[in-house]
Amino acid sequence: GAAVEADISGLKPGEKMTVEWRGKPVWIVRRTKEQLDGLKKLDAQVADPKSERKPSELTPEYARNEFRSIKPEYLVAVGICSHLGCSPSDKFVAGAQPSLPDDWQGGFLCPCHGSTFDMAGRVFKNKPAPDNLEVPPHMYLSDTKLLIG
Ligand code: FES
Repeated sequence: GAAVEADISGLKPGEKMTVEWRGKPVWIVRRTKEQLDGLKKLDAQVADPKSERKPSELTPEYARNEFRSIKPEYLVAVGICSHLGCSPSDKFVAGAQPSLPDDWQGGFLCPCHGSTFDMAGRVFKNKPAPDNLEVPPHMYLSDTKLLIG
């Protein structure tokens, strides 16, 4: 399928936008400093902290870092759960929320069978989803323009 351009100039810290690529939702999340700091505390709680599983399918080389991204601020990920394909919902706010742990740092919750993902799309341990969310191939055309695909 064709590559898709995304204009991220209007995306504020803590916001997410979705573009469609090959019929899939691709999320672009502009993470806050707090959200980036929160990721560093979670390595022991996520199943594949360094994105070593299925690297060629799930994480391009340029995103195999602690933030799973080219620029730390922006997460680009396919919004489809690696379990049975539902679309997880945003749970960006830290702190207690129903069905999430008290020390929740923000991330995504799959409504189908309860898999949880952090703000880098890394799946938490002991959840039905086996893998992190896919980071699609992408590049920056400028500071405010992304090319996905
Ligand atoms: Fe997401 Fe099952 S489809 S947990």
